[in-house]
Amino acid sequence: MRTKQPFQFLVLIVALALTLAACGSSSTDTTAASGSSDTTAASGSTDTTAASGTTDTTVHQDMASQVEVFSWWTGGGEAAGLEAMIKVFAAEYPNIEFVNSAVAGGAGTNARAVLASRLQANDPPDSWQGHAGQELIGTYVAADQIEPLNFLYDQEGWLDVMPETLIPLISKDGNIYSVPVNIHRSNVLWANPKVLADAGVEMPTTLDEFFTALDTLKASGMEAPLAMGEQWTSMHLFESIMLASMGPDGWEGLWNGSVAWDSPEVTQGLEDFAKILGYTNSDASALAWQDAGQLVLDGTAAFNIMGDWQEGFFREVGSVPGTDYVWAATPGTEGNFQFLSDSFVLAKNAPNRDAAVAWLTVAGSNAGQDAFNPVKGSIPARNDADRSLYGEYLLSAMDDWASNRVVGSLTHGVVANDSWKSEIDTAIGLFLLDRDVASFQTALVAAQEASG
Ligand code: GAL
Repeated sequence: MRTKQPFQFLVLIVALALTLAACGSSSTDTTAASGSSDTTAASGSTDTTAASGTTDTTVHQDMASQVEVFSWWTGGGEAAGLEAMIKVFAAEYPNIEFVNSAVAGGAGTNARAVLASRLQANDPPDSWQGHAGQELIGTYVAADQIEPLNFLYDQEGWLDVMPETLIPLISKDGNIYSVPVNIHRSNVLWANPKVLADAGVEMPTTLDEFFTALDTLKASGMEAPLAMGEQWTSMHLFESIMLASMGPDGWEGLWNGSVAWDSPEVTQGLEDFAKILGYTNSDASALAWQDAGQLVLDGTAAFNIMGDWQEGFFREVGSVPGTDYVWAATPGTEGNFQFLSDSFVLAKNAPNRDAAVAWLTVAGSNAGQDAFNPVKGSIPARNDADRSLYGEYLLSAMDDWASNRVVGSLTHGVVANDSWKSEIDTAIGLFLLDRDVASFQTALVAAQEASG
């Protein structure tokens, strides 16, 4: 087993195309490649048995010799986390080649477009990353693109170790459709403690304190005290500020229909969001989420609101928690854990089904999750983690996950299906340009009516 980088994999595919007349890759993806259905030839390896951590898995002679796994984890802490889990997979399934078809771009903005065209062309990767919640149920399950995994849950005893809150979000009609590898927190405020100390600013705990802190930093000469990146990161900021402004009942009400999108509390939330945007950098659209995080580390900005994968990035670049960066819940959201969960699915008609099941077995295992999460900057979905492997921030996230009120993320697939989310995204894009709260709210009302 080996792990291939995208370029090496492209080289392999070219070689296969030359040797196998029937290659026929139609992928438009530049970092991943299709054609996996052409490469299912058995390696001729003898049967082996590998311990998966929770159960023994037999590798059959006629089993495919590779598995193609699709994600958007290509850099900044994310690729390293994936590599750590691949290492566990390699140890347990040494005769399965891991084809890493990750496509770059935060929050899967590029990857999900590539995936959609592959699924459309009937060319699925064996397994791909999908968020628990509406993204999974409203997209892949609705389109009948993935297999139920109840058999694996039974075999591995996962119902005993996965959070009860998560199972309904990955299930439909009694079928469980994915294997969650982690829990991420979306509502986190990251800050540079030296910048705050120099300006005499404390970590804010309410929206009002946040505005005051941002004003103080601006008055001290910092042009854009709140770092932001490309458009999806503004949706990310939006969900944090709406939660802060509306509270958890208000936020949840937007998605369960109990709060109207044209209500005054939504108007207030949008005004708070508009105000917050006034403190962000003008080059945001050109920056990845890691670039925005770097502005905080550099002291060019004081704050960034981003999911806790930001800590994976901070650690990867050698920053020290507590010294180079500090954190708190987004002001006004203390006691609430706005969550998302990365999970992996099994493609219907997966070209390498047995190998894909082997991958999913590792993704759901204790060994896989405890290798992946400390590096990725997330806490394991499983509730039996070895806490000694996790740093100070992640330990606090584990405690908050266990004790806080849990609400879902919009940007990362929990609360809205893809079409609703995409209409909200369009409305946010326009709002970033015109900053007109009334027309923004009208567009959000229309989005809910069309797709909610
Ligand atoms: C999220 C994903 C995280 C992280 C982030 C930034 O959607 O769930 O694992 O990858 O995007 O890319």
